[in-house]
Amino acid sequence: MSVNKEIKRITTHILQEMKNKGEKIAMLTAYDYSMAAIVDEAGMDIILVGDSASNVMAGHETTLPITLDQMIYHASSVVRAAKRALVIVDLPFGSYQGNSKEALNSAIRIMKEAGAHGVKMEGGVEIAESVTRILTAGIPVMGHLGLTPQSIYKFGTYTVRAKEEAEAQKLRDDALKLQELGCFGIVLEKIPAQLAKEVAESVRIPIIGIGAGGYCDGQVLVVHDMLGINKAFKPRFLRQYANLNSVMNDAIKNYISDVKAKDFPNEKEQY
Ligand code: KIV
Repeated sequence: MSVNKEIKRITTHILQEMKNKGEKIAMLTAYDYSMAAIVDEAGMDIILVGDSASNVMAGHETTLPITLDQMIYHASSVVRAAKRALVIVDLPFGSYQGNSKEALNSAIRIMKEAGAHGVKMEGGVEIAESVTRILTAGIPVMGHLGLTPQSIYKFGTYTVRAKEEAEAQKLRDDALKLQELGCFGIVLEKIPAQLAKEVAESVRIPIIGIGAGGYCDGQVLVVHDMLGINKAFKPRFLRQYANLNSVMNDAIKNYISDVKAKDFPNEKEQY
């Protein structure tokens, strides 16, 4: 990690201190240099290069098609922009489920080729061996429980997870297991707020929620969703902080009409 003397880089230790002090952690996705620079300058604690890039950048219906090479491309662009935020990168579907050696190789590629600061992996006890192997190599790992989009074909829908006691208990056990293995934090996606509260109170490590209520130690959203770039995606948990779709649409329409009307470029806009 290159160290900028003026800006103190967020580390996993700082995140732990934040939880200890009750200071909330802000996390947002980014997938390219320009967006990551804006997100970082705003003061984000963690930038997640999520495999949601498969949806919002590539237009796929699920996160499954994105490849390790594509994640490395997105991550390296984000790392070049992030001066302060900790940059965590999703291990994509198929890059870690096979065996722990393959998982380690994937994580090492993300660290070496993209310059990332850690990886995120979906799953609990079933990926314990891979998590351990990656951690043993000195790579910080963030867990991801609840709605895990890489398993969408197993779940069948994107509805709230762990409403039934058996699934809630597995999630509690998985969270404790990920902590015991040495994960520095866990994302909880789309689960009841009370369950997220219980988990956040029962583990020492930071719990970052998305659709998991206000008791988590921090929150994460997909940047295109919270900026209102995606018109169609409006789940209950999403707060839209801007309507960039409409702002961009107006700007682009104005450009088209200026070009057609021979108004652009004018005298001052040419050489
Ligand atoms: O890929 C992603 O953007 C994520 C967040 C939704 C947590 O995993």
